[in-house]
Amino acid sequence: MRNKITIVGAGMVGSSCAAWLAERELGDIVLVDIPETGDMPKGKALDLLQTGPVVGYDTRITGTNSYADTANSDVVVVTAGVPRKPGMTREDLVGINTRVVRSVASQIAATSPNAIIVLVTNPLDTMTYVAFKASGFPKNRVIGQAGILDGARMRTFVALELGVSIENVQAFVLGGHGDEMVPLVRFCNVAGIPISELMPADRVAAIVDRTRKGGGEIVNLLKTGSAYYAPGAAAAEMVEAILKDKKLVRPCSAYLDGEYGLKDIYFGVPVVLGRDGVEKIIEVALTDDEKTMLQKSADLIRSTMSVVPPA
Ligand code: APR
Repeated sequence: MRNKITIVGAGMVGSSCAAWLAERELGDIVLVDIPETGDMPKGKALDLLQTGPVVGYDTRITGTNSYADTANSDVVVVTAGVPRKPGMTREDLVGINTRVVRSVASQIAATSPNAIIVLVTNPLDTMTYVAFKASGFPKNRVIGQAGILDGARMRTFVALELGVSIENVQAFVLGGHGDEMVPLVRFCNVAGIPISELMPADRVAAIVDRTRKGGGEIVNLLKTGSAYYAPGAAAAEMVEAILKDKKLVRPCSAYLDGEYGLKDIYFGVPVVLGRDGVEKIIEVALTDDEKTMLQKSADLIRSTMSVVPPA
């Protein structure tokens, strides 16, 4: 049996994720969007299907406005919602995107009751919590995509700074997917060498700052929306880890029930990703400074959660 992957929202992130997934031949892909978008998802699916002979993949891709076509998906990537524009924070999207994510999650639960949900819609940690509640799925099957993207941004900036391959650079960014995210400098290394050995402290600080504002930098350049290639690719990496049961260790937004001293919150932490979704949360001992930064990041999520419109 081929795997079935649904992507909800055939916009910029959704279609970019579909392209990365198609190339990996992980399963059939269904792109679904609201009826108001008409045949747009079908058009994008056909375009991606016709890319197959050029790039060399055999993935079946279809587009639809109906959840019936998404039935019994193994993984559902949710990119439905509104992206931010210059001057907006991710948190500004909470009202509109809560309504979207709530409706999407309940339809997924009805049509694909065994799926694993990978959330991409912002504000990420809060929207993942909304999807968790609206779907009624167990916590391991609702996961937010953020840390892979934020880590990739940090890896890129370190590689550019030092003139080395991105393959050599490892980075871990924890906490919420907002400007209070916590790039853990201690765990950032180049071929195992801590970056603090390779560049002065002020350059490390500049990279941390650029990573935190990485999404906003792109919003300001694009002006019409937010980043989509890297967010789409990061979600695709999570789907691959799940479907191949890779036990991949990555920072993801996961439901915490006491881990890292936090309860009843979705928060970016290192997890083991496999066929059951979040199979384990890895807890590492943090310094007092790191704990303070994580607490600040959690406070920002809590304040966003406090303005989520009632169901
Ligand atoms: N069901 C399905 N799709 C929906 C729904 C819904 N209820 N509401 C909106 N959509 C669709 C829109 O029709 C649109 O095609 O979601 C798509 C969003 O696409 P874009 O506007 O291109 O936005 P994108 O850049 O893809 O960002 C989507 O991901 O990274 C986050 O912050 C970003 O929250 C934003 C989301």
